[in-house]
Amino acid sequence: MSQRVLKVGIIGGGKGAFIAQPHQKAIHSDGTRRVVAGALFPDPKIAMEEAENWPYPIKGYGSYDDMINDQKNLPPEERLDYVLIVTPNFVHFDPAMKAIEAGIPVMCEKPMCMDMEQADKIVEAVERKKVPFAIAHTYLGHWTTRFSRFIAQSGLLGEIKWVDASYIQGWLGPLMLGGAAGMPMWRTDPKKAGKSGCGGDIATHALMQLRFTTGLDVTDVSAHLEKFIPGNALDDHFTAYCKLSNGGKAMVRASQISSGTRTTSTSKLSARRARWSGSRKTPRRFPYTCPTSPTAPTGAAA
Ligand SMILES: NC(=O)c1ccc[n+]([C@@H]2O[C@H](COP(=O)([O-])OP(=O)(O)OC[C@H]3O[C@@H](n4cnc5c(N)ncnc54)[C@H](O)[C@@H]3O)[C@@H](O)[C@H]2O)c1
Repeated sequence: MSQRVLKVGIIGGGKGAFIAQPHQKAIHSDGTRRVVAGALFPDPKIAMEEAENWPYPIKGYGSYDDMINDQKNLPPEERLDYVLIVTPNFVHFDPAMKAIEAGIPVMCEKPMCMDMEQADKIVEAVERKKVPFAIAHTYLGHWTTRFSRFIAQSGLLGEIKWVDASYIQGWLGPLMLGGAAGMPMWRTDPKKAGKSGCGGDIATHALMQLRFTTGLDVTDVSAHLEKFIPGNALDDHFTAYCKLSNGGKAMVRASQISSGTRTTSTSKLSARRARWSGSRKTPRRFPYTCPTSPTAPTGAAA
């Protein structure tokens, strides 16, 4: 297997961008990849300045079109191994499609794109071009998720009957008091975020946690997309009651108005033999309850 360090081209990430930074740290943490090029900002001049300010030398581009088009001019050993898309939701589809059509693999932030029509086009292009395409459902890589998945899918708990998966934040809460939000406001603009605010932004994390941990899929959904912030165009509070592929049931909950909560993500699994809970807030504690066990009615795995 090749030990070559992979070359990453980053799209978005200039001027205080949020998720680009954790990506950039992760890229460097194991030495397998390196950011070598960037189209960091929509304004070409600022994009080039931001590339100059990158903590180490990278090749700056005024736009992602320039970066993708330039690949064919480069010798094979200098071409990007993949592009990383860390722009707001409305700037996922276009760079993803252009990269795929150019034969460049893509790592795209969630949500994949703005609607099903775009998603279907991406899937069609990926299958036609046979180009790898990944979505950064970050939390699936966290060890608490992997551990819960191992426990759930080992069968130790018995058949999963009910799951309560939640992802709770409070960054929009201050708006209820006339204050300022703690995240970029494109998330509340349907033209930039998509058809759902809270659901599309963070219930996706809870949903993926549920699916990945249990190995089950959601077959039926009854959802409430609610707005607590006056004038908010999109949901800031989201609740879905779901039927699972094994006949079990689940609640997928998310909120952005839980004032004072930074981010809390929890999955509680109720199964035939035991109940199991995993949360990134308390990563060394996995409370479980075994009602049928006389010797260990409750406990915590550490
Ligand atoms: N996986 C996670 O846990 C997680 C967490 C936060 C954000 N996200 C996702 O990451 C994406 C970015 O979110 P964010 O909070 O970092 O947003 P942000 O607003 O902080 O950063 C977006 C960056 O993209 C740049 N940009 C916008 N249009 C561009 C264009 N045409 N060309 C080049 N750059 C452009 C902006 O200038 C900015 O630098 C969103 O899709 C969001 O859903 C995922």
